[in-house]
Amino acid sequence: MSNLAPHLSFSPSPTALQSKVILVTGAGDGIGKTAALTYASLGATVILLGRTVEKLEGVYDQIVAAGHPQPSIVPMDLAGATAQHYQGLADTINGEYGKLDGVLLNAGILGALCPFAEIKSKEYDNVMQVNVNSQFYLLQALLPLLKHNKTASVIFTSSGVGRVGRAFWGTYSISKFATEGMMQVLADEFKNSGLRFNCINPGATRTDMRAKAYPAEDALLLKTPEDIMATYTYLMADDSMGITGQSLDCQPK
Ligand SMILES: NC(=O)c1ccc[n+]([C@@H]2O[C@H](COP(=O)([O-])OP(=O)(O)OC[C@H]3O[C@@H](n4cnc5c(N)ncnc54)[C@H](OP(=O)(O)O)[C@@H]3O)[C@@H](O)[C@H]2O)c1
Repeated sequence: MSNLAPHLSFSPSPTALQSKVILVTGAGDGIGKTAALTYASLGATVILLGRTVEKLEGVYDQIVAAGHPQPSIVPMDLAGATAQHYQGLADTINGEYGKLDGVLLNAGILGALCPFAEIKSKEYDNVMQVNVNSQFYLLQALLPLLKHNKTASVIFTSSGVGRVGRAFWGTYSISKFATEGMMQVLADEFKNSGLRFNCINPGATRTDMRAKAYPAEDALLLKTPEDIMATYTYLMADDSMGITGQSLDCQPK
């Protein structure tokens, strides 16, 4: 028996996500790409949302080549998408699959790391649009579909600076606090429904975003996205039914 918390020691059955339809945002790169590949390998039909089509096509090809359920691609720039776009997406998912079992809200940008007084309003608006507002509009559009399914799981992506503010992490930190808040509001509203809402804090993970934030560190010392998948799988699988309103660390201190 492992002494680790269930989300850290979770070892899914090969069919843990079979027949589930799961939307992953930012599925073309970094943690989102690995999550999409992992979910597909466990039997899920994955809807790959992102802004760079070639990257999404690469993930699509990998999934198909591995013989996993055929995914679909949704090219969308969250910086410019409107409530109408999200409604269109919800209608398409409903028409194509008739259901939605899970959403991984993973796409995000770092923005400029600088003193608070130097944050440009355009920069602030852009980070908030991609990291926070897009999630609000997307979930408003998807909720009717999610509510049909009494066991759907919505996973938000937080950060250490979404729990404790840090100097010079400006808008990114504020956006992650807002993300934690959105998750808590939804978890409370739906607490007796079976629908669950949780946050994941990946911790330092070897991706482009991390390299941008810490250009001088040795990336080889960091966990890879593959190393942190237990929590992503646990929260998406039915094994975590009843878990809601939590913010889980993939790499607790
Ligand atoms: N890596 C870490 O150490 C770490 C730590 C704590 C939290 N996180 C969080 O984990 C999540 C994933 O981060 P990551 O490290 O995997 O970052 P990443 O490698 O930079 O990947 C981010 C993904 O989001 C997509 N994206 C960014 N802006 C978008 C937009 N406007 N529209 C659609 N898609 C967009 C990117 O698409 P393109 O590839 O097309 O740009 C990319 O696929 C983020 O929410 C991040 O805040 C990461």
